Amino acid sequence: MTTTADIQFPAKLSPLFTAHRYKVVFGGRGSGKSWGVARALLLQGIEKPLRILCCREIQKSIKDSVHRLLADQVVALKLEAQYHVYETEIRGTNGTEFLFSGLSAQTSISLKSYEGIDRAWVEEAQNVSKKSWDILTPTIRKAASEIWITFNPVLDTDETYQRFVVAPPTDSVVIEMNYHDNPWFPPALDQERLHTLATSEEDYANIWGGQCRTSVAGAIYAREIMEAVKDHRICPVPYDPRLKVHTVWDLGWNDSTSILCVQRGRAEIRIVDYIEEHQRTLDYYAATLNARAWNWGFDYLPHDGFTRDYKTGRSAEEILRGFGRTVQPRERSIPSVSVEEGIRACRMFLSQVIFDQGKTARLVECLKRYRRSIPASTGEPAAPLHDEFSHGADAMRYLSLVASKLTNEDDVAPPIRMQQYMQIDQALGALG
Ligand SMILES: Nc1ncnc2c1ncn2[C@@H]1O[C@H](COP(=O)(O)OP(=O)(O)O)[C@@H](O)[C@H]1O
Ligand SMILES: [Mg+2]
Repeated sequence: MTTTADIQFPAKLSPLFTAHRYKVVFGGRGSGKSWGVARALLLQGIEKPLRILCCREIQKSIKDSVHRLLADQVVALKLEAQYHVYETEIRGTNGTEFLFSGLSAQTSISLKSYEGIDRAWVEEAQNVSKKSWDILTPTIRKAASEIWITFNPVLDTDETYQRFVVAPPTDSVVIEMNYHDNPWFPPALDQERLHTLATSEEDYANIWGGQCRTSVAGAIYAREIMEAVKDHRICPVPYDPRLKVHTVWDLGWNDSTSILCVQRGRAEIRIVDYIEEHQRTLDYYAATLNARAWNWGFDYLPHDGFTRDYKTGRSAEEILRGFGRTVQPRERSIPSVSVEEGIRACRMFLSQVIFDQGKTARLVECLKRYRRSIPASTGEPAAPLHDEFSHGADAMRYLSLVASKLTNEDDVAPPIRMQQYMQIDQALGALG
């Protein structure tokens, strides 16, 4: 335990009292991250006047912020003589000030008003986007200024986790803390912890163990992705020239177009490549595919690939054929089944799939993040969310619907073989 006056901190938090550009505290619930940082900042703001910006990704009102936590700590630490708590600010009698702001609403210009900040505390930082980090970090530029970051991780591909845990910047101290590092871990929280322990292994590892999840909470393919990770089916999957490469498409313009490049192995379906772009015309995709000197099979389009565009009078099928692609005709392409039916098919299908680790990373990311909306009115999961991750997941669902049709044969309809010709000839001959 580290003690400052008679205020105590978990031992792991002692680096909060030495100078570092980035102080990153991450881990599971109840480890003392928020309390420790709040207390440390209040104490440091008494030692000398500091401008402290408390931020989070989204702050709709001051209630979303750490204002309340800081105000409670002012009372708990008996610092009422040193701090005045106002509705949207906390001010020290020595000139220290705590300001509160959401990052998502900021631009680099609006954040300018925060120059001169000595400490930025980013709480719930797992939700902070790349854009917000790119705006915030250069704004905190005063000499000896520091950025303090607290969060419970979600996915290891999240921007915050990548930026501050996987590859932290120079002069970062990165502290991992869990409930057992908190000497004051309250009994009420321990009951919750034991409840999670009894109900869900993955929730427990994430919520209390501070480990990353394999998919976001409520992900539609959560179990299937966890299995794929466990079975090492996200691995190097090189193109095999002996097998055909088929493609499965989800078409979009403002939305992404997603294309899976798939090979049928003996017992498995191999996804060897994945293309996702938006606002590109079909010639671009055809050229991107044709640039690969591959043993091409068929292109499978969803139903909208066969409807004629009212402006050009041509369908995606016709255009792609014009660029040398071999598109499966409508009746052999992706069947029109409901989204829910497709999701069920995809769930069963995913256990046969292996993903190329590098080339399909974006696809795997989409599958980890494909989830249902949960309307506040019901609190129940509803339809799958249409967002930047749904297109890859849609293409995957389409693949599950055509996977049984993918072969390594050359032709759509198997040609009549010589033997059959002879049989037919003989039959005709017998007829006289
Ligand atoms: N420095 C501390 N002194 C006394 N109690 C603490 C301290 N830090 C944490 N606690 C207790 O542990 C609980 C969890 O701490 P908190 O900071 O909210 O954890 P986290 O932010 O990691 O979820 C607090 O509600 C409080 O009861
Ligand atoms: Mg906290």
